[in-house]
Amino acid sequence: MEKPVDLQHLCEEVCRISREVGKFILLEQKRLSDQSIESKGLNDFVTYVDKAAETLLVSELQALLPGSGFLTEEKTVAQQEAELVWIIDPIDGTTNFIHGLPLFSISIALAFRGKTILGVVHEVSRDECFSAIEGGRAMLNGKVIQVSERSKLSDSLLVTGFPYKDEGRLEAWMQLFITLLRKSHGVRRLGSAAIDLVYVACGRFEAFYEYGLSPWDVAAGAFIVEQAGGLVTDYQGGPNFVYGKELLAGNGRMNEELRGVILEHFAR
Ligand code: IPD
Ligand code: CA
Ligand code: CA
Repeated sequence: MEKPVDLQHLCEEVCRISREVGKFILLEQKRLSDQSIESKGLNDFVTYVDKAAETLLVSELQALLPGSGFLTEEKTVAQQEAELVWIIDPIDGTTNFIHGLPLFSISIALAFRGKTILGVVHEVSRDECFSAIEGGRAMLNGKVIQVSERSKLSDSLLVTGFPYKDEGRLEAWMQLFITLLRKSHGVRRLGSAAIDLVYVACGRFEAFYEYGLSPWDVAAGAFIVEQAGGLVTDYQGGPNFVYGKELLAGNGRMNEELRGVILEHFAR
């Protein structure tokens, strides 16, 4: 397949689709009961809403780009290899979603031959649609955004996620958390990696770090950070952050310092 010519139009359509599906998700959040929640593993939950939202997204995106493949969290569609692949998390922040909290998002990336060329993260409750296309600037609801200009870790607000499936490295992770609390304005934990990333992209946070994330959590948000002028790497400073399960995203002005602190606590 060829790379789509009009990425701008495609991106607008993806925002439109995620807004439609977002309305469905918000309505269903009010109807959720304990019976709607299934466990996929330790502290790993899914509801019929995650699956139904994914099915809706897949059918709309299939119609938008016939022949494209899919890599999706809930596996409601065959995970085909293709030159163009949609990487989708229908609800990033499911634990927040099932507890009635407003912080969750739809995350959609499009990769061409393995490289992200379009990213959309829709923060559903606030109707904030973050987006970017290859060669373009990062946007929030149609307005250009960029990473913050703060350059000192001591002036920064950071965000992270706590490991809840792999507890093997929890203590080292918490020590790192304590160290960074002391060095910054604070470290938040929002519960949606995709939102964490796009909040870096628009300058609300200086940096985000987490480990154990999956491609559907990060592909769209990390691309939006890059297009907003930020820097995203794995903990070795390399580019393996979509599939490598280690990610540090920041405004680029303190990434090296932060990477050093992470490695002090968290060397492989
Ligand atoms: C989770 C969220 C969370 C992160 C987890 C992810 P889910 O995604 O992004 O912030 O800490 O590692 O699995 O399960 O809500 O789609
Ligand atoms: Ca997720
Ligand atoms: Ca999810």
